[in-house]
Amino acid sequence: MRVLIKPDYDSCAKWTAEYIIFKIKQFRPTANKPFVLGLPTGSSPIGVYQELIKQHKEGKISFQNVVTFNMDEYIGLPPDHPQSYCRFMWDNFFNDIDIKKENIYMLNGMTTDYVSECRNYEDAIKKVGGVNLFLCGIGTDGHIAFNEPASSFASRTRIKLLKAETIKSNSRFFGGNQNEVPAKVLTVGIGTIMDADEVLLIASGKNKQEAIRQTIECGVNHLCPASILQMHEHAIVICDDFAADKLRPDTIKYFKNIERANMVAK
Ligand code: GLP
Repeated sequence: MRVLIKPDYDSCAKWTAEYIIFKIKQFRPTANKPFVLGLPTGSSPIGVYQELIKQHKEGKISFQNVVTFNMDEYIGLPPDHPQSYCRFMWDNFFNDIDIKKENIYMLNGMTTDYVSECRNYEDAIKKVGGVNLFLCGIGTDGHIAFNEPASSFASRTRIKLLKAETIKSNSRFFGGNQNEVPAKVLTVGIGTIMDADEVLLIASGKNKQEAIRQTIECGVNHLCPASILQMHEHAIVICDDFAADKLRPDTIKYFKNIERANMVAK
C-alpha cells in the first residue's frame, strides 16, 4: 500500500486529480477500449472533481472515452432528488465534462428488483473489461462505498442496511434529520472494488483519524472494511495531516521518506 500524507485537503484533491488524468492519458483510451473509472460521492471527492473539471476546461483532459461506475445509491430516492447520488454526480462532475451519457453507469435506487439491478451492474462492469481505477472515500467507521463494518471482503454489488453511525454522519446532507436518510442502499461490494486494477482512497480531516489508523496500521479486519486495501497490489491512500494524525510517528516518517525518495528519483 502506498500512503501519501499531504498538508491539506486541497493538495490531496489536486494530487488525486492529476494522478487520474495521468492514468487516463497513459492508457490512451479509445471508444472500443475505454478507460473505466469507479467513482464515489460524499465531500471527500468534491475537490478532485473540481480539479478534473478545471483541467478539462483548460483542454488538458477529455472524458470522451471514459466509462464510469458509481459506487452506491440510496434506495427510494429518485435520480433527481437533491440528495440522490445520481444528482450529486451530475451536479458536481458530469454536467461539466465531455463524458458520453451512455458511458455513465449508476445504480438505480428506485428499482424494485434489487437482485437483477445488482447482477446487471456486475455484468456491465465485466462487459467493459473491469474497472481500471476505483476512487474511494472512507466513512468514519472505515466503510468504503456503503460496505459497512463486518461486510464480507468477498461481497459483490448488493443491497445493504446502513448502520446508525453512517445514518447520523450522512444526515448532515439531509438538513441534520436522520429520519430523512434512507436506511437501505445499493452498493458495489468490497470484492467489486478489490477487482479494480488500482484503488485510490482519499481521506481528510480529524474525523477520519481512527479510520485511517485502522486502515494503515492495524491488521486486515472486516470491522474496518478499508483495511482490505492492504491486500491490494496497487492501492494508494491519499490523506492530509489531520487524517494522518493518529498514525505512529514512525509510520508517518516511513511513508514521507518513501515519497521524498520517489521525488528525488524522478
Ligand atoms: C458515504 C458514501 C461513501 C463515502 C462516505 C464518506 O457513506 N457512501 O462512499 O466515502 O460517505 O463521505 P465523506 O467523504 O463525505 O466523508
